[in-house]
Amino acid sequence: MESINIKKATTDHPIHELICSRWSARSFSEKAIWQEDLETLLAAASWAFSANNGQPWRYVYAHHSDTEAFQKIWSCLMPGNQPWCANAAVLMVSLMRKQFDNGKPNATAMHDLGAANATLMLQAISMSIYGHPMAGFDREKTIEALGLDTDLVEPVAFIALGYLDEADKLEEPFKTRELTPRTRKSLGEFTERL
Ligand SMILES: Cc1cc2nc3c(=O)[nH]c(=O)nc-3n(C[C@H](O)[C@H](O)[C@H](O)COP(=O)(O)O)c2cc1C
Repeated sequence: MESINIKKATTDHPIHELICSRWSARSFSEKAIWQEDLETLLAAASWAFSANNGQPWRYVYAHHSDTEAFQKIWSCLMPGNQPWCANAAVLMVSLMRKQFDNGKPNATAMHDLGAANATLMLQAISMSIYGHPMAGFDREKTIEALGLDTDLVEPVAFIALGYLDEADKLEEPFKTRELTPRTRKSLGEFTERL
């Protein structure tokens, strides 16, 4: 039996296990995500911080077993994401709401949606569910497929979710990407102590 490749972060700082364990996987097993577990992930997302507690996020999703709905979301992805996303247990679209509930524009909506997505991913990894965010989608197709009013919402990132499987079942170039070690810039490259 092939072994499942885990791409845990190697770091010289004592970063929390949960953060080190999250990575953007592509090889998903056939195991479904229970609706109750998915709702736990979405509830976790809702506990992210947001400007004025505006909670400018929205998620549209489909389980793999919701064949037609899954296909609708999948078909909006770019060809580079479609092959491996076909095996995701859940596909979701994360959208930002552009206005606060009082109608005023929300300048940090995308920031807050990103925070919610990160929170969702960390909750997911604590439950051995891997998430993979994607900007590789067709915006116009997504707007049409989901019937979006872009004065109010904007699709920002798709997310594939599932339980991890062997990298070997992926075709190239996805298999190599699945096996390539993760890297990060050093602190000196992105921080400055004034
Ligand atoms: C907004 C956003 C868009 C991304 N778009 C894609 C994508 O379209 N396809 C893909 O394979 N990965 C995509 N990724 C995943 C990144 O490539 C990945 O997060 C990055 O390489 C760091 O790897 P890690 O998440 O495994 O730590 C995206 C990530 C983010 C946050």
